[in-house]
Amino acid sequence: MDLFDVYSLFDIVPVKAEGCYLWDDKGNKYLDLYGGHAVISIGHSHPHYIERISSQLKKIGFYSNSVKNPLQKEFANKLGRVSGLDDYSLFLCNSGAEANENAFKLASFHTGRNKIVAFEKAFHGRTSAAVAATDNKKIVAPVNAGHEVEFVAFNDIVKTEEVLSKKDVAAVIIEGIQGVGGVNIPDDDFLKSLKTICRKYGTLLILDEIQSGYGRSGKFFAFQYSGTEPDMVTVAKGMGNGFPMGGVLISPDIKPQKGMLGTTFGGSYLACAAGLAVLEVMENENLVENAKQTGAYLMKKLKNSISYKELKGRGLMIGVEFSEKISDLRFQLLNEKRIFTGISGTNTLRLLPPLTLSEEQSDCFTDNLCALLNSS
Ligand SMILES: Cc1ncc(COP(=O)(O)O)c(C=O)c1O
Repeated sequence: MDLFDVYSLFDIVPVKAEGCYLWDDKGNKYLDLYGGHAVISIGHSHPHYIERISSQLKKIGFYSNSVKNPLQKEFANKLGRVSGLDDYSLFLCNSGAEANENAFKLASFHTGRNKIVAFEKAFHGRTSAAVAATDNKKIVAPVNAGHEVEFVAFNDIVKTEEVLSKKDVAAVIIEGIQGVGGVNIPDDDFLKSLKTICRKYGTLLILDEIQSGYGRSGKFFAFQYSGTEPDMVTVAKGMGNGFPMGGVLISPDIKPQKGMLGTTFGGSYLACAAGLAVLEVMENENLVENAKQTGAYLMKKLKNSISYKELKGRGLMIGVEFSEKISDLRFQLLNEKRIFTGISGTNTLRLLPPLTLSEEQSDCFTDNLCALLNSS
């Protein structure tokens, strides 16, 4: 059987990984400034993570959500404490798109409305309502197009209020920092005002922290820079450090009813063990603070060493926008300098390293980027 051919692949076969490094099948070593698309939070193959998951697997890996699973409660308590959202409750699922899909569903149940407001350049996943709320017509199939979604310009509070004032919007969804759209940070004041107008018109505010969350921005959630209080926060990616996990953090104003949401796999014993290991390592190794400090160091170093059009980001979610296309540069970084990076659009280099990145590793990246830019 052939694989369904939907990905453009680099000709690299990683076979081993540790910390911020990967090795391919030819023995080449790579520095990882991409984190498998913002997924690797605590570093590859962390010994505590391996131990937590493997010892759990020896006891029990999975049973259905029809029985009590104390690890779910332990995980929810820990996530509440570490994120500062203690009074929220948690619905566990398996991916980012699924988290957003469930958040929309909950907003719709809660408000009795069906319309969603999203922002230009947003990316929220590839399932039905999530992809309808994604500002990229190329990936929206006719079957997804039935959702009622309106896109508003990023940071435009006047236009957003005009749309919400019709009182037919179930939810506004916004990324803590836009990733795919080019590492765009919503203004702190905009996020605060967004909550105010959502409350005024009976709409729920969903913060998509799937890429910007879990410490990446230098705070546990990127929206926490603004002091706003979302009705729901969606998470995935760094949450399981590679173990498929997603979740919706739900404010106490939204009440559950039996059966309104559900999943077969979400919150399995193995997922909870992975999620707990991630939070334990984040706490023990102070990784949110490391993301903040190393991110600031890397930004400063980039600012002082290269020419770019715009440098954007917070913590270890950084976009370096150039005036020209960067596909060749990214290819050279990978093949000549053995450094993985991400991309947004055609001109922005997107850096999403493990949160364990060190200053030396940041220097290694910047020096190699500099060398390439100076040789071209
Ligand atoms: C902001 C954001 N939301 C949602 C998603 C979808 O997550 P997943 O691929 O786990 O479904 C992504 C994935 O890149 C994302 O960056």
